[in-house]
Amino acid sequence: MGTLKAKIIGTGSYLPKRVLSNQDLEKIVETTDDWIVTRTGMKERRIAREDEFTSDMGADAARAALDDAGMSAEEIDFILVATMTPDYMCPSTSCLIQKAIGATKAASMDVGAACTGFLYVLATAKAFVETGLAKNVLVIASEKLSSITDYQDRATCVLFGDGASACIVSAAKERKGLELSGITLGCDGGQADILVIPAGGCRQPASNETVENRQHYVKMEGKEVFKHAVRRMESACKECLELAELQEQDISWLIPHQANIRIIDAMAKRFKHLPPDRIFKTVHKYGNTSASSVGIALDELLKQESLQKGERILLTAFGGGLTWGAAVLTSTGDV
Ligand code: ACO
Repeated sequence: MGTLKAKIIGTGSYLPKRVLSNQDLEKIVETTDDWIVTRTGMKERRIAREDEFTSDMGADAARAALDDAGMSAEEIDFILVATMTPDYMCPSTSCLIQKAIGATKAASMDVGAACTGFLYVLATAKAFVETGLAKNVLVIASEKLSSITDYQDRATCVLFGDGASACIVSAAKERKGLELSGITLGCDGGQADILVIPAGGCRQPASNETVENRQHYVKMEGKEVFKHAVRRMESACKECLELAELQEQDISWLIPHQANIRIIDAMAKRFKHLPPDRIFKTVHKYGNTSASSVGIALDELLKQESLQKGERILLTAFGGGLTWGAAVLTSTGDV
């Protein structure tokens, strides 16, 4: 049992085709391309079709990850989906994806950790494969944030985009991949109210009043979130490196949650040994895709760059809850 080592053996992602540019947003709310670029680094983001849902995007990303791993859906025995925009309150989105991809032998569940979701499901997958509870876990993060975004609120509507990411986590000894060398997770429920969707749960079930008051959309105290984001991601990274007995110099790439270029730049300043071009960014073209963000960036990085054996990627994320986390991935060759 103790010898099993979890690794990512395939990745995939899905982005909807429709592009929502800053110029498009200028026509919807009182904003400017200049304000959005300066304050967030975002130029455009992707928006799902009306008939395209979190489960559809998640299934597409999952198919891409299975393909990348050279695996069939029947070989998956557990599906984990991170999302804050599920298709339904019940059943879970993971069940819908299980059916869509034909993973008939897989148990499945959803995990809610807002923008940190990908790291929470990655940690869960690691625990399952390293204890022998599962062999091949399909990890998915998928978000249709456009469905909870208030396009009358200029402070939030410019930030969010839709998309999905996925990876296969396995302990199969014969497979090369990215070993999950260390993962750390954290939470501060005392700050729950700085990022919240007030209605739609049992505290405020849907009513005419909640709809009229726009309570089904995400509300965020941007400045507060910003402060916590930089601090928490930095400390999560340091804790994770320590756990894996590594130094900053041992890292080839840092992939932070793509929430805001200023958050990413503030993070970069705290990593003195990592050149700026080693901090991977997608925020300019996809905006903040919440749970999907680091997984989308990871998939893009792996499709663009080939990692030598022993090279390492550090992932970090932060989100509502508040939640945060970091993970070190080590290449075992030919990724
Ligand atoms: N266009 C033009 N002006 C705007 C816009 C806009 N889109 N949005 C806000 N403003 C105005 C405000 O009204 C304010 O005007 P005022 O000074 O006259 O009152 C001014 O710009 C400054 O507003 P701030 O909110 O102070 O702007 P700030 O520099 O803090 O940037 C932002 C706002 C981009 C939201 C930033 O705070 C941020 O990125 N926060 C973190 C968000 C985040 O990381 N989220 C991650 C978690 S998300 C999740 O878990 C789903």
